[in-house]
Amino acid sequence: MTNKNRAWVLLNIPALFLSIYLALFPENYQFVVLTGAYSALTLYVGLLLLNPLISVFPKQKWIKKLNKYRQQIGISCFIYALIHAAGFVVKRGSILKAIPWIIHPVILLGFASLSILFVLAITSNRFSMRKLGPRWKKLHKATYIAQWLILFHMIFAGTTNNYVAALAFIPLIAFQLARRRKKKLRKA
Ligand code: HEM
Repeated sequence: MTNKNRAWVLLNIPALFLSIYLALFPENYQFVVLTGAYSALTLYVGLLLLNPLISVFPKQKWIKKLNKYRQQIGISCFIYALIHAAGFVVKRGSILKAIPWIIHPVILLGFASLSILFVLAITSNRFSMRKLGPRWKKLHKATYIAQWLILFHMIFAGTTNNYVAALAFIPLIAFQLARRRKKKLRKA
């Protein structure tokens, strides 16, 4: 088994268990909503941190090694976010009963970010890169839109997750700014 295949299995076996758990015990939807949410968040912030970390700590080889698994991390993030959303649908009883909630700011922001993650997940392959050419990079910059949507999704969801949002997004934004500054200095 190649390392990339091992990464697929490692990242997605918990997702498989979580989906089976939701199907078997729909009354425990809240556990699935939260586990899916924080798994997706960890993978997403981890993925977005990779490029800034490489730029700030260019000598750290382990970051470059992790960077080889971007595709696996990104697609798994989408899968966990989807399971998180499925938990919400189960909470509401059915897709039809969940749809009217789209006008709620938390759900609207969640849906918008999930839609972006979906487009990025289905185009995270060599075929799409070849087909889209230079547009591929532009399209994948939409990940930064999703970043802000997810942050506001969490802020609107409220409660203790505002602290978690701060814990996840403040270091991320700080490293992104450091990377941007380094790029500017290099250009100057
Ligand atoms: C259609 C898409 C989505 C729906 C319907 C949805 C729904 C929800 C709901 C209802 C909550 C409040 C949960 C609660 O506290 O009981 C929530 C919170 C949260 N969502 Fe989403 N979400 C969606 C997409 C996303 C995506 C793409 C992410 C990506 C990481 C995400 C991450 C989170 C996180 C981290 C929380 C905070 C969990 C907490 O309450 O502590 N969501 N979402």
